[in-house]
Amino acid sequence: MAEKIALITGITGQDGSYLTELLLQKGYAVHGIVRRTSNLLRSRIEHLRRDAKIYGKTLFLHYGDLSDTTTLRRIFREVGPSELYHLAGQSHVGLSFEIPESTCDEAGMATLRLLEIVRDQSPSVKFYHASTSEIFGNASESPQTEETAMRPTSPYGCAKAFATQLARVYRQSYGMFVCNGILYNHESPRRGENFVTRKVARAAARISRGLDVDLVLGNLESKRDWGRAQDYVVAIWLMLQHGKPDDYVVATGEAHSVRDFVEAAFKVVDLPWKKYVKRDPAFDRPIEPTRLVGCADKIRKTLAWKPNGSFEQLVREMVEAEVETIEKLKS
Ligand code: NAP
Ligand code: GDD
Repeated sequence: MAEKIALITGITGQDGSYLTELLLQKGYAVHGIVRRTSNLLRSRIEHLRRDAKIYGKTLFLHYGDLSDTTTLRRIFREVGPSELYHLAGQSHVGLSFEIPESTCDEAGMATLRLLEIVRDQSPSVKFYHASTSEIFGNASESPQTEETAMRPTSPYGCAKAFATQLARVYRQSYGMFVCNGILYNHESPRRGENFVTRKVARAAARISRGLDVDLVLGNLESKRDWGRAQDYVVAIWLMLQHGKPDDYVVATGEAHSVRDFVEAAFKVVDLPWKKYVKRDPAFDRPIEPTRLVGCADKIRKTLAWKPNGSFEQLVREMVEAEVETIEKLKS
């Protein structure tokens, strides 16, 4: 069998790092696009970059930015991927209200750039687009399926809706192998620190060890369908292994509030959360999506994928990872 070559945009992100580990285990050569930053350290994939058996042998990094079409085109030509996983972009919904233009360029236009590169250079390449439950926004039905209308409520959601529909258009118009993974929130110890689950897990651990005194949050009543990132990258990979390109909702089907997450996190470290959690409307968004819960029946039936573990296990895993990091730093 010919060597499988994956090209990943957003390799340094939460999902990119887990997907890289999965693909390396499966024998792929993995190429990732990284932005030039002032710091050479890329924390989530540093363990792979420092492994001489992996880096430069089966894992390769290339400098590029989503705004730089010439470089993207060159990297694509040089790498010659069989699978392209497009995960990169500004992914914080709240921030997309503050920096809408760059968010829309990265989440929307950059997807168009990559679709055009693939169409020009190698239309048979399998293309994964990281879509999101945010496209449903003020959802017209609950739970949502692949057929639910797109009604985004944030600049980020609008840009992802644009890119999701474009991906469909390229699949239908040019017969390209393009899949939209419509993923609901998925979390892990590698989640960015300004997303609510990591912020809560980190604060619970730090307060329990006397390193912080409180936790300041926005809307505690918001609900999300939270799964595990490690499971969701398996779903991403499975989509590109199927005979036919398609769109899939990836979700647990269960909604929990931010308050539920906070309660469960402080329970792990045996602290009364109400004593430590403060509310600050500065963290509120101008508008929130409503009733976001996914129906993952299609991916269960077609690709035999299902989420693992409970909500409580996810919270425990994240808080324990934070406690472990603190203990390691101490010793
Ligand atoms: P993440 O942790 O925020 O990672 C984003 C990645 O994009 C990072 O590698 C980042 O690089 C890179 N990036 C951002 N702007 C870039 C640019 N202009 N040029 C090149 N690279 C750029 O996101 P994630 O949680 O892994 O999510 C992956 C994708 O899935 C995103 O598109 C997100 O919108 C989507 N999604 C996520 C979820 C979720 O719950 N996690 C759910 C649905 C959809 P740096 O390391 O340099 O910042
Ligand atoms: N970030 C953050 N910080 N969110 C807070 C806070 C806070 O201090 N307090 C309350 N929240 C609420 C937000 O208002 C939102 O309702 C909920 O917690 C979840 O916020 P995030 O963790 O930032 O995630 P998100 O749902 O907005 O977006 C994530 O999931 C999407 C999939 O539905 C991101 O990963 C997106 O990229 C992804 O598409």
